Amino acid sequence: MIDQNTIERVLETARIEEVIQDFVSLKKRGVNYIGLCPFHNEKTPSFTVSPSKGIFKCFGCGKGGNSAHFIMEHEHLNFIEAIKYLAKKYNIEIEERELSEEEKLLSNERESMLIVSSFAQKYFNDMLLNNDRGIAIGLSYFRERGFNDTIINKFGLGYCPDGGDDFTKSALAKGYKIEYLEKTGLSITRENRSFDRFKGRVMFPIHNIAGRVIGFGGRTLSTDKKIAKYLNSPESEIYHKSKVLYGLFQAKNTIVKNDLCYLVEGYTDVISLHQSGIENVVASSGTSLTEGQINLLKRFSQNVCILYDSDPAGIKASQRGINMLLEQGINVSVVLFPEGEDPDSYARNHSNTELLDYINNNTDDFIRFKTNLLLAEAKNDPIKRAGLIRDVVESIAVISDGIKRTVYLQECSNILEIDEQILYAETAKLRRRKFQEQEKQKQRENLKLNNPPTPPVPSFLHNVYSETLEKEIIRVLLLYGNEIIRVVAIDEPNRDPDDIKIANYVITEIRNDELELSNLIYLKIFEEIEKFASNNIDIKPEHFINHHDPELSHVAALLCSQGYKLSKLWSKYGSAPGDERLRLSSLVPELIMSFKRNILELGLEKIQKLIVEAETNKNFDRLKELASDQIKIMNLIYKLSKIQNRVLLR
Ligand code: CTP
Ligand code: MN
Repeated sequence: MIDQNTIERVLETARIEEVIQDFVSLKKRGVNYIGLCPFHNEKTPSFTVSPSKGIFKCFGCGKGGNSAHFIMEHEHLNFIEAIKYLAKKYNIEIEERELSEEEKLLSNERESMLIVSSFAQKYFNDMLLNNDRGIAIGLSYFRERGFNDTIINKFGLGYCPDGGDDFTKSALAKGYKIEYLEKTGLSITRENRSFDRFKGRVMFPIHNIAGRVIGFGGRTLSTDKKIAKYLNSPESEIYHKSKVLYGLFQAKNTIVKNDLCYLVEGYTDVISLHQSGIENVVASSGTSLTEGQINLLKRFSQNVCILYDSDPAGIKASQRGINMLLEQGINVSVVLFPEGEDPDSYARNHSNTELLDYINNNTDDFIRFKTNLLLAEAKNDPIKRAGLIRDVVESIAVISDGIKRTVYLQECSNILEIDEQILYAETAKLRRRKFQEQEKQKQRENLKLNNPPTPPVPSFLHNVYSETLEKEIIRVLLLYGNEIIRVVAIDEPNRDPDDIKIANYVITEIRNDELELSNLIYLKIFEEIEKFASNNIDIKPEHFINHHDPELSHVAALLCSQGYKLSKLWSKYGSAPGDERLRLSSLVPELIMSFKRNILELGLEKIQKLIVEAETNKNFDRLKELASDQIKIMNLIYKLSKIQNRVLLR
């Protein structure tokens, strides 16, 4: 967190004409500057900057504000990111709010990793442009691919020497720590020796939205099929592959301006298209789109156009990602490149106008494209046709806009020569099913979070423990934690019962009421079980029986060996005998209620003692408080016993 003073200092230091001049060429006009507005297309300048007031204003589109607002708007950053940008430009040290030790470590670590990555990018770039081998091997490769200096510079391309540890050595000599070289994956240490991950590869730095280098893709120059063509930085604190789109930093402004984003497969496609004048392009880097990438895209445009090479397998593989785009309300179109060409090769072998014409003349709506594609494949095979219809309907069904859906259904009915009503019914069925699934999921979550099936124990009893029943709870968790039971929400007996894992049910009940276990060993087991359950890992009694804590393993072994016999204490509150495994749906809620009831009863005893004490001390205020607590407890005990009777009678 940046404190208020620092923000003010940054804004006072930043000179708006300097900040803007990095992006817009300005001309002095009286006391102000004017230029062409970067936020809308114009031929005569209506964009005005006033250094004295520290603001900009466009009289064409109405945008205006201070330096930070300009950076926010232009670089698509949030306020804090914009302040950081300005602070960096003016070399202002940012005073951040006192961070906790843990936060400090983490943010230092992240910052150190970013610094190392930035050094690496500059190093690789320097090797490419100035080192003899770098020029002979790396630069000549890029030249062969037709990349010019401007584009190499714009994407910060580089070359990692092939000696094995040249980069790592240089970095260490410059004082960068091996810890961060390893954490960013730039160096790999084996048997006390550190090597370059990317040795002998040409380097594609990967930027975050703010333009900082967070990772690399490195392409081998070898044609050996056994060597991976691309090596990428490993997942790290700064590089989360599923949340990155290659080229977004370089593309974002044009994406916004054109309200359209082209999506391609690879690094080289992005770069070649840029060089051919198409700058609103990003790559998913060979994987299918993820939710994180889609959320990123959505910030810039609602229109995505996918550029495919004509490989049917690739097209099929991308379907899931595209359905996710449609689901998010994004308009998806596609361009199919001619057989044997990808965007990169096409851009290289054709003029800029030819490329643009090809794209413009071959853009097709995704649903129409998919329908035609599948139709060509299915021909007159009725079974394939049926599959095809389902496939198309699946894509249409995820679109939430009803009007769009209807238009698509009409069109597909024409293309496929199928009655519109049939398609309509299929879509409705899929949407209904999805809706029901979502509802069920919601209900399950409600049960987990807001709807404790049994009445809560009031918080003034939180220091009262039912030690005897704790043991029973742990035994049930150990032996039956993974079993599913059907439980009825007590306050809504008419609702359908919910299926829930015993572990989740018991943990929810105890956590909702903020009840604690008093026995430290039981508590330890409980907490471990909770960890398993929240990660959806099955609970294995052996894990506890073989636990490294000898006391714990002993207790677990004893509990598990009790077999299916009901504890006497548990049955004191009314359980009937029999094989407990068959009756878990009623026994487990009963156990929880008994546990709570035991706590209430112990609490009641305690309060009665306190009442006698308060009476002797003539402490009437305290007495009033205690009496009200006493009534609360008695009401709860009454309520619980009624529920327990009902459960028993069922
Ligand atoms: N990719 C990867 N690892 C691989 C192969 C591919 O990460 N072993 C990713 C890269 O991001 C690559 C993209 O998938 O850019 C597309 O792969 P491909 O079409 O094989 O590479 P191109 O970008 O076309 O590279 P080139 O033209 O240099 O062969
Ligand atoms: Mn290629």
